Amino acid sequence: MKVLITGGAGFIGSHIADLLIAQEFQVVIVDNLSTGKVENINKSAVFYPMDIRSDSLQEVFEKEKPEFVIHHAAQIDVQTSIKQPKLDGEVNILGTVNVLENCIQHGVKKIIYPSSAAIYGRPVYLPIDENHNISPMSQYGISKYTPEQYIRVYSSLYDLKHTIFRYSNVYGPRQAHEGEGGVVAIFQHMMKAGQPPMIFGDGSQTRDYIYVGDVAQANLKVLTQGDNEIFNISTNEKTTVNRLFSVMKQQLHFQGEAQYGPERPGDIPHSILSNQKALMQLDWQPCYNLKTGLQEMLQAEK
Ligand SMILES: NC(=O)c1ccc[n+]([C@@H]2O[C@H](COP(=O)([O-])OP(=O)(O)OC[C@H]3O[C@@H](n4cnc5c(N)ncnc54)[C@H](O)[C@@H]3O)[C@@H](O)[C@H]2O)c1
Repeated sequence: MKVLITGGAGFIGSHIADLLIAQEFQVVIVDNLSTGKVENINKSAVFYPMDIRSDSLQEVFEKEKPEFVIHHAAQIDVQTSIKQPKLDGEVNILGTVNVLENCIQHGVKKIIYPSSAAIYGRPVYLPIDENHNISPMSQYGISKYTPEQYIRVYSSLYDLKHTIFRYSNVYGPRQAHEGEGGVVAIFQHMMKAGQPPMIFGDGSQTRDYIYVGDVAQANLKVLTQGDNEIFNISTNEKTTVNRLFSVMKQQLHFQGEAQYGPERPGDIPHSILSNQKALMQLDWQPCYNLKTGLQEMLQAEK
């Protein structure tokens, strides 16, 4: 079976590529390397350095004829989305429309799309389930949600199945620590350099951290399950930033303490996603908790 992964040179996409190749799928990657890295690309994948907005994308679909598309290419930085909303909308919304048009023209069976907890905005209740209000607080939240609607409509008009995921905070090897990066990657980078990481506010804010290996497994599962459904992919476990720091401090043998700075405007105090629907309907469950996920990450990066 042939799977085209957009964003397959990036953090999450490259882990999905590795898993599928280990399961003997043929993998084709399209990535413009804007944040992705050549060294992340599995040697057994066929790689096209290309922008998802490009008209040439149709040549890739024509030549490769993928049965499945796992669409992870995106502009992922919230601050960039606020400063450059046109760029953000062009990549995340129009880029997805280009991918969808190619899916239809080239007989793709199913598209899998990673949306984000960012679409829910400030939680009205916790844990957030898939029926929670949609109220994005940034252009990024809008540009991740709008493709959900395009995908639903394409799926109802044409013979194209889909699964939409909404990931909580994903962490693991290869995550960028530059720019906004993931907090785990940023803390790791700082501690390894012997620098105290910065915690904004008092560190009591909570997030739901999921290991990238569990996210890759969910993508594998929905090649054969979960058609035309939306699933939160998360651990349903809340972790304070203080606890994250203390677990990482222990595992990295960091001697210092964290620095505390002022709360950032717009930061959501608590965010946890319910994974009940995925647990019930998919043959999937997260296999890593925070400690084992962090251990796996550090092991993989040795
Ligand atoms: N990391 C998380 O916690 C998280 C949470 C929710 C959703 N997501 C979604 O998961 C997906 C992957 O995120 P990630 O964390 O691996 O980020 P990433 O930046 O590592 O991966 C994105 C990849 O897309 C590529 N890309 C960007 N713009 C492109 C374009 N115009 N054409 C072709 N390729 C392009 C980049 O080069 C990169 O390789 C994104 O869609 C993101 O919105 C991530």
